Amino acid sequence: KDKSTVSITVVGASGDLAKKKIFPALFALFYEGCLPEHFTIYGYARSKMSDAELRTMVSKTLTCRIDQRENCGEKMDHFLERCFYHPGQYDSEENFLELDRKLKEHEAGRVANRLFYLSIPPNIFVDAVKCASSSASSANGWTRVIVEKPFGRDSESSAALTRSLKQYLDEDQIFRIDHYLGKELVENLSVLRFSNLIFEPLWSRQYIRNVQFIFAEDFGTEGRGGYFDNYGIIRDIMQNHLLQMLAIFAMETPVSLDAEDIRNEKVKVLRSMRPLRLDDVVVGQYKSHTRGGVKYPAYTDDKTVPAGSLTPTFAAAALFIDNARWDGVPFLMKAGKALHDRRAEIRVQFRHVPGNLYNKNIGTDLDLATNELVIRVQPDEAIYLKINNKVPGLGMRLDRSNLNLLYAARYSKEIPDAYERLLLDAIEGERRLFIRSDELNAAWSLFSPVLKELEEKKIVPEYYPYGSRGPVCSHYLAAKYKVRWGDIGSDQQ
Ligand code: BG6
Repeated sequence: KDKSTVSITVVGASGDLAKKKIFPALFALFYEGCLPEHFTIYGYARSKMSDAELRTMVSKTLTCRIDQRENCGEKMDHFLERCFYHPGQYDSEENFLELDRKLKEHEAGRVANRLFYLSIPPNIFVDAVKCASSSASSANGWTRVIVEKPFGRDSESSAALTRSLKQYLDEDQIFRIDHYLGKELVENLSVLRFSNLIFEPLWSRQYIRNVQFIFAEDFGTEGRGGYFDNYGIIRDIMQNHLLQMLAIFAMETPVSLDAEDIRNEKVKVLRSMRPLRLDDVVVGQYKSHTRGGVKYPAYTDDKTVPAGSLTPTFAAAALFIDNARWDGVPFLMKAGKALHDRRAEIRVQFRHVPGNLYNKNIGTDLDLATNELVIRVQPDEAIYLKINNKVPGLGMRLDRSNLNLLYAARYSKEIPDAYERLLLDAIEGERRLFIRSDELNAAWSLFSPVLKELEEKKIVPEYYPYGSRGPVCSHYLAAKYKVRWGDIGSDQQ
């Protein structure tokens, strides 16, 4: 019989992330039977609320996936019975001590493991960690803390945050989340590459012309302008989500699948990269646009954004890895809000076939006739490879067709949310998908200088209409490296 318990305290329980992601993910894990037999969930926040009120709040956020419909209501009730609330200040040792007393009652003398999920603004991170560690740490089990970005806003502030956290926690107690690492197709990247003979031999400058990491959202920063304005899209998406995908994409083969082996390789590849230069970045900001009688707001229409803000809501960048495998290959990134669609994908463009016998049958644009591998992280998860193919018939005309693995067609199970995997890993002590502090330093070193320059020189972003394809400057940047963005044009299925 299991003699241990896990108490999960969601600090900042009434916030957006807790409601949208954390509680639903915990419930999905409970539904699947992935949580330990003895577990308790505590919401911790400043507002006064009873356990019953927390349960009502949480119940509104819970849904059952298509494959989790059986006994859904009953499971929800059981889950909610294990949820409690403790009101407290984030910097009050006394309030955390009261929480400690309540947790002890639930733990009833068993080995007590405690997980704190800090879903609070960065200016109170350190206070909360201090109080949780000194007043509510487990006496006989493990204590772990999950933290969400922002981890500072440049190399110095991030290092200062790490130093402060390490006053109260050891590195192996800190679980820095980058939720993109919990996404199914990002996790699959290594499987695709290291477990299929046909890909790994091609994974280098010899065969790959360029790699593109693309993130687009079809909505703006509505309601989050206050946070966003201090960070901008480069810190919000590129320095973490896109760079993490890049590191996994480009790293050398790790010694094993152990967390430290994988993270060692990621650090190595990040440290082989050239810090980004101002000439290799372009920035944009969305402006208001009226379509179909609806007026979509400009970024600066948000009341929480200072008038005249130059914060980029779009950026494109060209990065380079100075190692033997990737010398000279442009790694392009593009991220933007309020664009015409929502997507996250990796596109790998291969070189031309040397001496292609079929060049004359391909048409005039030889560039379009190269192979391209697309890993569509979301929506409609898919992996497809564009190949040249003979159009059936008596003539000899080639077109581009897709070898297509569409997840929805191939796998009937709904894909779990990234937060489910990450929460489960944190409970199980699996650190593979969390960011180590040296990784974080390496990531900041690449972006800090250019971020500083953009701010000091007050670089004015190119304004693009809400809902458009984004600023044209991104095409000039790509053209400088003889690259065409792969997401423009049609991806025939
Ligand atoms: C977050 C960013 O990290 O990721 C948000 O702060 C962004 O600005 C979000 O909207 C996107 O996540 P997802 O999983 O919806 O693609």
